[in-house]
Amino acid sequence: MATIFAFPGYERLLDNINQPLGFDVGAVMLRRFPDGESLLQIQSETVESEVILVCGLEDADRKLMPLLCFSEVAREMGASNITLVAPYLGYMRQDKRFHPGEAVSAPIFAQFISSHFDSLVTVDPHLHRIRALDEVYRIPNKVVAAAPMLADWVRNHVRNPLLIGPDAESKQWVSEVAGLADTPYVILEKTRHGDEEVTISLPDLTSYHSHTPVLIDDVISSGGTMLEAIRGLRHAGLAKPLCIAVHAMFAKNAYALLQDAGVEKIVSCNTITHVSNQVDVSGLLADGIKTLPCYK
Ligand code: R5P
Repeated sequence: MATIFAFPGYERLLDNINQPLGFDVGAVMLRRFPDGESLLQIQSETVESEVILVCGLEDADRKLMPLLCFSEVAREMGASNITLVAPYLGYMRQDKRFHPGEAVSAPIFAQFISSHFDSLVTVDPHLHRIRALDEVYRIPNKVVAAAPMLADWVRNHVRNPLLIGPDAESKQWVSEVAGLADTPYVILEKTRHGDEEVTISLPDLTSYHSHTPVLIDDVISSGGTMLEAIRGLRHAGLAKPLCIAVHAMFAKNAYALLQDAGVEKIVSCNTITHVSNQVDVSGLLADGIKTLPCYK
């Protein structure tokens, strides 16, 4: 048996994940002192030796100290194995040094998590120059793919879809969804000029004018990538596109900007709670937990 906890904001996801698992649900309190420092308290009287924590790693800087405190106090209370279920895995994009002196944060962050947790379950991490989590995480990990759920969603909601990946990295997700949904796909070419500025070039799409364009990416952050892709697609004479993201980061006013850009619909998985969540990945996360060596 295991005890499963959720950091604030992940309680609903915990309930859904735990439905097929039936673990004891633990109580954890997390609050900030007036000076901004964190206070964490495990309020359950006991914990099982197997402990699971559900906490997404978006806005990761604010969670580092709480994660460290959780792991320390859970071990003091008898946990011998702590699994972190992070539906979104942050700090995967700075996977190389782009300018002299920059920290390559992906392996630094991975080292922090690997030092305090014993295993990790996550959904579609941003794998680019890091080809597999094992290259930077030195704990057992399970990567859950949202593609089957996205393919179901596309099959059930979109007539005559053309799946479109806005950049080379997106091919890994888009091609998988297209294969499962039995739809055509194209990949655009993106050049990034800054945090929010990208340019995108499109192949000849004249043979797809009767299709419904469906942009798919792993994460929408500033929205710059999607906005530029939408602009290109509309310019090429295609219908209003749907935008699908696994992870609905939507920094600042990105969601409003996308809505104003003339999209048909914006859809995301519930890895980050957002009004666009339509695809529930909690069952996949539960399956992921079951595959870890410590639960076999
Ligand atoms: C990067 O390659 C990712 O797959 C996304 O395309 C990117 O992170 C989206 O970021 P933004 O919304 O800021 O363009």
